[in-house]
Amino acid sequence: MIYIVGIGPGDKKYLTLNAIEIVENSDIVVGSSRALKLFDIEENKKYILTKNLVRELKNIVRSNKDKNIAILSTGDPCFSGLLKTVLKYNIAKKEDISVISGISSVQIAASRLKISWEDYHILTLHGKEENRKILLNLIKNNEKVIFLPNNLKEDVKYLIDNGISPNKKIIVCENLTYKNERIIYDELKNIINIDFSYLCVCVVK
Ligand SMILES: C[S@@+](CC[C@H](N)C(=O)[O-])C[C@H]1O[C@@H](n2cnc3c(N)ncnc32)[C@H](O)[C@@H]1O
Repeated sequence: MIYIVGIGPGDKKYLTLNAIEIVENSDIVVGSSRALKLFDIEENKKYILTKNLVRELKNIVRSNKDKNIAILSTGDPCFSGLLKTVLKYNIAKKEDISVISGISSVQIAASRLKISWEDYHILTLHGKEENRKILLNLIKNNEKVIFLPNNLKEDVKYLIDNGISPNKKIIVCENLTYKNERIIYDELKNIINIDFSYLCVCVVK
């Protein structure tokens, strides 16, 4: 069986007991070094993914057919996560997969800001160029949005270049649950001048 395991936003405290149990009982555990660090795993079971993620996952799954494999996915695997990658690239069939929910970065952002996320449009710009236009139209229509940027500076520049006021306010929730967590509420024009890590959730009210 292949388990796609949501690991939450990054701090151990946000791992589910189910995720810990599945990982403990798996023969092979695959993930980024950031994800693998969250668990106590024997060295010979670990596989660190690099940039050739699809090829590596295919090889691991094909050469370990009768084993239990845990694939670690940031946040929740069903939102902009590894579930889509595994299905899209035929890494494994649906019937051979079990998905273990994790706490999404979107949920943590909502809890930090004390907002109800059902009131927001939620979208990811990760590898989804077409969603930029959707985001633009939502903001033009004064809709509330929570989004995962692809490249925050470029995404914000795109919004300004396409008619959103540089004075429009945005909230950037960076490195959620980590020691260097930062939440910044500022105008688009100022956000462009701040350096952020790739771990950001953005909110426009
Ligand atoms: C490939 S997506 C995975 C999203 C994930 N499945 C989820 O449910 O949060 C990776 C992006 O999620 C967001 N993200 C994940 N962990 C985060 C964290 N601890 N703080 C802020 N953003 C985070 C960032 O936008 C990051 O670039």
